[in-house]
Amino acid sequence: MKELKIALLGLGTVGSGVYTSIMDRKGALEELLGHRLKLSSILIKDSSKARPFVKGVPLTSEFEKAIGEEVPDVVIEAIGGIEPARSYIIQSLEAGCHVISANKDLIARHGEELTERAAAKGVRFVYEASVGGGIPILRTLRELLRINRIQHVEAILNGTSNFILSYMRTTGSSFEKALELAQKKGYAEPDPTNDIEGLDAFYKAMVLSKWIYGVQPSWEEVQVEGIGNVLLEEIQLAEQMGLRLKHLVLLNDRLDLQVQPVFVDSDHPLYGVEGVDNAIRIQTDLLGCLTLQGPGAGAEATASAIVEDLLSIYETREIYRNKPAVSELCPKKQEQEVNT
Ligand code: NDP
Ligand code: HSE
Repeated sequence: MKELKIALLGLGTVGSGVYTSIMDRKGALEELLGHRLKLSSILIKDSSKARPFVKGVPLTSEFEKAIGEEVPDVVIEAIGGIEPARSYIIQSLEAGCHVISANKDLIARHGEELTERAAAKGVRFVYEASVGGGIPILRTLRELLRINRIQHVEAILNGTSNFILSYMRTTGSSFEKALELAQKKGYAEPDPTNDIEGLDAFYKAMVLSKWIYGVQPSWEEVQVEGIGNVLLEEIQLAEQMGLRLKHLVLLNDRLDLQVQPVFVDSDHPLYGVEGVDNAIRIQTDLLGCLTLQGPGAGAEATASAIVEDLLSIYETREIYRNKPAVSELCPKKQEQEVNT
């Protein structure tokens, strides 16, 4: 049995979840993959932090050591941010490693470039965990897009915002207390600004747009509003009127994108999506309407998507391809609609 070496970049919320998930399921994964699995190295930033749960895997704060000494087959990037994550991914791809990433900020901006670099080296760059946490959104859409055209998308894509709004409504707590809890639970980014200002959902919407339509709306023209100014009194008043505040992403095939908090009534399909859950509701020409819902953040949910990506790399069946299938089905029409 061949040995498959994996380097893990980052050992925070996501990295720790991936570490534990792989270690706990090693036997089952090896059977599925047909390879022995070895976590060959873990890259961290702060060598002084205690990480007692890590057993038998070398920790290093030098990237060159993480992939240089024993070149891995797969690199899992769970550092976040643009740099040095982008450079590390490029160096990993150049070294012939498959790369898995959960980094929506980076993929929204540089996903196409990284996918092309991977294709040029004959390896894969996959990022299911970057949108919707544990929900297999990209994989499901990829399958659907073979024969469906997606007309519009309505989604909750930030677990922290949904958690805060639900928690304030159900407990009467302040915004600050709800955010603190979201941070403790590992849902929020290290700096939660992007979560509460709507940018995290915006980046995910940009990843989705590229995935579905092959293009993104103009970055400058999208109005992005988060939940940073929401008051407890508003949430409570809305509740008395049968309404709930939800942070929504609305995207359609004309590339109109809106990212904003919206009051929805109990007939709205995303009204009941609570806590850290994310949900995506898509309307297609053939299937009709489909809603996927599940945990949108947190160590385990995100690890689930990352380990799914690991399995998908070694699947013989081609699920992921570099160009959206919808544009291959009817390129002229797609182009026409995008330009109008
Ligand atoms: P954390 O801040 O918890 O973890 C980041 C990890 O990366 C830490 O281990 C840190 O090291 C390490 N790190 C940071 N900078 C460097 C660097 N320059 N060199 C080496 N190591 C570095 O973040 P999360 O785990 O929450 O998020 C990681 C990524 O996953 C982000 O892209 C995030 O957007 C994404 N994501 C997060 C989800 C979540 O629920 N939290 C869900 C889906 C995606 P050290 O431990 O030494 O500080
Ligand atoms: N901070 C993000 C969220 C993590 O709350 O949705 C998942 O991408």
